[in-house]
Amino acid sequence: MPHDRPTLRQFLLKDYRTHGTEKDLVFLLEDIATACRVIASRIRNGSFAGDLGSAGSTNIQGETQKQLDVIANDEFEGHCRNCSRVAALVSEEVEDVIWLKATPAVGDYIVYFDPLDGSSNLDVNLSVGSIFSIVQLTEAIDASDDRTVLRRGTEQICAGYAVYGPAMSFVITTGAGVHGFTNHLGSGEFRLVSRDMTIPEETDEFAINASRHSSWNQPIRRYFDECVAGKDGPRGKTFNMRWTASMVLDIHRILTRGGVFLYPDDSANRAQGGKLRLLYEANPMAMLIEQAGGRATTGRDRILDVQPTSSHQRVPVIFGSKAEVERIEGYFEESPVSVGAQDPV
Ligand code: AHG
Ligand code: MN
Ligand code: MN
Repeated sequence: MPHDRPTLRQFLLKDYRTHGTEKDLVFLLEDIATACRVIASRIRNGSFAGDLGSAGSTNIQGETQKQLDVIANDEFEGHCRNCSRVAALVSEEVEDVIWLKATPAVGDYIVYFDPLDGSSNLDVNLSVGSIFSIVQLTEAIDASDDRTVLRRGTEQICAGYAVYGPAMSFVITTGAGVHGFTNHLGSGEFRLVSRDMTIPEETDEFAINASRHSSWNQPIRRYFDECVAGKDGPRGKTFNMRWTASMVLDIHRILTRGGVFLYPDDSANRAQGGKLRLLYEANPMAMLIEQAGGRATTGRDRILDVQPTSSHQRVPVIFGSKAEVERIEGYFEESPVSVGAQDPV
């Protein structure tokens, strides 16, 4: 038993004393951590319980839902309901905003979540994760209008994710650095394992779904082609490539050893605005990345400054080591913007 490491509660209560993190936020984060622990066990036992495979339904994204997408969504929703300060929930798996309070007040929370990220990995026993983001209301809002949850990423007071891998990780920021916990098998406790996770500025590792090469715009194609040209190319060094099909896992690797993650818009997904969703995928990851000293951009704009226009809006994302992301932003600056599309292909 790792008694020498602070538990999540001990850590957060210290945060409460030194950074003013509210007690209700501490309780909410503990409830979310519990939801993630339950999800981890549902995944682990999925094949015995008959929980693997399709749920036979589609979500608002038009994607087929896995049974575990629905199960994980219900766990998140159920545990968030424990906190009386949560006014609303926005989930990847639910089309409309879930209002928990009829008259949301100043100080209440909105929780945004992707209950299972990388769910195509489930049926082949590869790792998956969960992502969440918390915004605190600075004014009373109208619960009859779903557009009131459309908040910029800069309004987040907390973001985090869980990794359901060989070990279960729970990584959070409340705006004072990024801290990683591991779930201790046996006691079920989350104990601190990585304080102040920091992304190295430079990297020689990138993550992109290279099967989309023919659809990419010019700056992305240039970046990729220069990386794979290796020692004899313009970068003068060899790069490594990783792609896990779960952004959580790719970001966890980047927070641990650096790297860059790209899911750009391209000619095949541009009509949808990209692949990844702003409110519950890009924004929480952007907050974590920036808190760890990295950079998060669409290529042209800082992710956290993007004004959302709908709950399930998609956005191009480039995350990771500062110098590498700045280089890619430079490629976008040098590339002309065409009329009617973000970038020429
Ligand atoms: P989700 O399972 O929540 O729909 O998200 C999957 C996302 C992201 O996690 C991952 O990086 C990407 O989709 C994988 O896309 P490809 O299928 O193009 O590899
Ligand atoms: Mn996802
Ligand atoms: Mn998902």
